Amino acid sequence: MFSYRHAFHAGNHADVLKHATLLHILDHFNAKETPYWVIDTHAGAGIYDLDDEWAQKKAEFADGIARLGDGAAAPALVSRLLDAIASFNAGGGIRRYPGSPWLTLQALRDHDRLRLFEMHPSEVEVLARNLSGHPRGRTRQVTVTQADGFEGIKALLPPPTRRGLVLIDPSYEDKHDYRRTLTAIEEGLKRFATGCYAVWYPLVQRREVQTLTRALERLDTVWVHAALRVSRPPTDGFGLYGSGMFVINPPWTLHDALAQALPWLAGKLAQDDRAGHSLTRSAKS
Ligand SMILES: C[S@@+](CC[C@H](N)C(=O)[O-])C[C@H]1O[C@@H](n2cnc3c(N)ncnc32)[C@H](O)[C@@H]1O
Repeated sequence: MFSYRHAFHAGNHADVLKHATLLHILDHFNAKETPYWVIDTHAGAGIYDLDDEWAQKKAEFADGIARLGDGAAAPALVSRLLDAIASFNAGGGIRRYPGSPWLTLQALRDHDRLRLFEMHPSEVEVLARNLSGHPRGRTRQVTVTQADGFEGIKALLPPPTRRGLVLIDPSYEDKHDYRRTLTAIEEGLKRFATGCYAVWYPLVQRREVQTLTRALERLDTVWVHAALRVSRPPTDGFGLYGSGMFVINPPWTLHDALAQALPWLAGKLAQDDRAGHSLTRSAKS
């Protein structure tokens, strides 16, 4: 589990889908004055330098965010992300890529709160260092806990404001992450049924992927489920060929925003002729 470092993957196609969806949800929360909490169970380092040797090693951003250009004619869900990224790259281009904590910190109002969990000892150190340079990083608005996010959320739900988003974004290198994600959602919903829960998952050839998504779809909730495929599944049976976002209690605008964005993203991010997308939602809405 401790081998995963998000810097290798920052800005890839999976981050694009995840972060565009995240910002849409946060914008929706911001439409009402009532304060809310964001709980990020798997925070990563916060922000990534794409010139860094780790990011350069695989240069996954080249087949991700870098393919979207300046976003001219991009659907709203995508141009929102591109605008946010541009604000972290004053000199133009994309040299710094903001992870979920940074995008959230930018979206929050002063009365909202961010609770971050990160278990990896080196990653949490980088996150804390990065946060110390952020204007909101030393305020009570944000806390970082070096702990297992699946366990950590239990004590935070429901948040005092009774309004909140839980982002669950494991690396799934540990196959138990699939089961643990489902359990966290089931237990979370018992404590905080009206919360918004956003789960990212990888498209890889593992039976656990389908087991997780089918179980999530069977929950008695309102949900939107988006998947973006960038290539055919690798013939060796390994490797990421896309990813999905499963959002429980989504903003009512999310389905239509994704319906506009996904075909455009699949076109831009396609690595072969098997690229495509799917978008479904609960019967109950
Ligand atoms: C996919 S990355 C997170 C990326 C981040 N959410 C973003 O969008 O910028 C997953 C992170 O979870 C951390 N991690 C792994 N297992 C964990 C656990 N049980 N609890 C908290 N963090 C964990 C890893 O060290 C890694 O930094």
